[in-house]
Amino acid sequence: MNVIAMQPTSPAASSAHTPGAAQTPGSAQTPGQSTGQATNMPQRPTRHPSAPIRQANIVAVASGKGGVGKTWLSITLAQYFARQGIRTLLFDGDIGLANVDIQLGLMPDRDLGSVIAGRFGLADAVMPSEAGFDIIAGKSGSASLATLDQAALNGLRDELCQLARSYDKVVIDLGAGVDGVVRTLSQAAGTILVVTNDEPTALTDAYAFIKLARMADKTADVRVVVNIAATTREGERTYGKLNKAAENFLKFSPPLAGVIRRDEKVRDAIRNQMPLLTRHPMCDAAEDVEAIASGLTGAIARARY
Ligand SMILES: Nc1ncnc2c1ncn2[C@@H]1O[C@H](COP(=O)(O)OP(=O)(O)OP(=O)(O)O)[C@@H](O)[C@H]1O
Ligand SMILES: [Mg+2]
Repeated sequence: MNVIAMQPTSPAASSAHTPGAAQTPGSAQTPGQSTGQATNMPQRPTRHPSAPIRQANIVAVASGKGGVGKTWLSITLAQYFARQGIRTLLFDGDIGLANVDIQLGLMPDRDLGSVIAGRFGLADAVMPSEAGFDIIAGKSGSASLATLDQAALNGLRDELCQLARSYDKVVIDLGAGVDGVVRTLSQAAGTILVVTNDEPTALTDAYAFIKLARMADKTADVRVVVNIAATTREGERTYGKLNKAAENFLKFSPPLAGVIRRDEKVRDAIRNQMPLLTRHPMCDAAEDVEAIASGLTGAIARARY
């Protein structure tokens, strides 16, 4: 595998911390209850941009290369958690190119756009979904969201960390790449899943993401998901290539969170704008995501539905 030696675009070093430890000040909040603060308002608690503020119950889904299955995986993880009785929030962190609502066939009556504009707080943007979990929808095609300054991004991240205290699990569907939004929201996550497939470009970009995440925070809990694998064995081989590069060049071995097989049922569910576990609960991809989700909850998934 060719590995692009990417240069970090932000200050790399940050202070050590306990991964997963909830370190955000502020009291717990009921979903839907206003913080009374807009994301870009001056009275929001400020924080050094590089300060890690990870919440153990936040899982961020990242990739590097686009189109490898982040949004679909985020939705399916959230649906799995909700079915286990876990209070779950799905946050569309693909700011400016939001897709969660589209894949779920929702017409959100509120989204991040209003939060950023300062019309209400992040908790007020929460809406329930029929799939059993809460959602904060992004806003597609909004230039103001795509060009948020770092202070506003930090504020958004901090508000999300605070809101996460009201949930058992929060899943962040990140955008592709390694831009400021992705890096900032990644800082909130106790666990980061990096999704790749077997294409050299996807692997190279996944490597770049892992490199930057670890440079920013040596203790970041970064795990790999190989998606659209021909077989589980093939997926494990793909992981082996990525792991070897990471071991050689980063001296870090990201654990394999799981392999998801290529499954036509995934496309069918997306085309029909329905969550996979509703439309095809027994398919191969559903089984594979359940195994990954179980690894994130520590529970053994025995129930099939
Ligand atoms: N396990 C799978 N089997 C078959 N097809 C899949 C699988 N996972 C994802 N896909 C296909 O990949 C496409 C892209 O998925 P998705 O939109 O979730 O990717 P993404 O990483 O969020 O993309 P983007 O970077 O543009 O946000 C889906 O429309 C689906 O057709
Ligand atoms: Mg997406």
